[in-house]
Amino acid sequence: MAKLAPSILSCDFSRLREQLLEAWEGGAEIIHVDVMDGHFVPNLTFGPLIVEAVRKVLPEAFIDVHLMMDNPRAFVRDFAQAGADLISFHAEAVQDFDAVLQDIARVGKKSGLALCPGTPLTILDHVLGKLSLVLLLTVNPGFGGQKFISGMEEKIRALRRRIQEKGLRVEIAIDGGVKEENIEFLASCGASIIVAGSLVFSAQDIRGTVRRLSERIRAY
Ligand code: DX5
Ligand code: ZN
Repeated sequence: MAKLAPSILSCDFSRLREQLLEAWEGGAEIIHVDVMDGHFVPNLTFGPLIVEAVRKVLPEAFIDVHLMMDNPRAFVRDFAQAGADLISFHAEAVQDFDAVLQDIARVGKKSGLALCPGTPLTILDHVLGKLSLVLLLTVNPGFGGQKFISGMEEKIRALRRRIQEKGLRVEIAIDGGVKEENIEFLASCGASIIVAGSLVFSAQDIRGTVRRLSERIRAY
């Protein structure tokens, strides 16, 4: 059953509380938080304080923090304390995956490894079994509202096959360029968590949009 994870990157921050509640009432159980450091990606967003705010508004949500930063180890503890349930870091940003995974395990959280569109799945060879989630970026990270990079559907399928062959239970999340016209197709390719920013938060009716999109992907 594929699930929708609204990304607050595209929300109206002057109405964060209201919009989070609308997404939650629409049935969103996972909230995706995009942390950008202005260096790993050419944009700057927010830190643990926003995670703390999300946690305050939605005590029962599953908060998925996507760290687009050069030095994730420096912030694992802070994001965990702020209320993250899962912390994803980028494969392109660190050399020693195990060290970061140990940091995340030490603070009792789930871990995800994020891959930019150009990063091959072979990078997962020795680490897949240690992850709760692989986050496949389907746009170049940095900004919301971009176009899905075609060809990424094959990467999703290939990862799904690899996970099945190894008999693992790793979630596949996809992130970027999800639109009305491709959301069901992407779920059918094997994504179990579908991150959507602009699609959800630019809607007039956030509650209804989350409900409708979740309904459309739940069969996969
Ligand atoms: C991309 C971010 C995404 C972003 C997706 O850098 O990681 O989470 O919010 O935005 P949309 O859904 O608008 O493509
Ligand atoms: Zn993201």
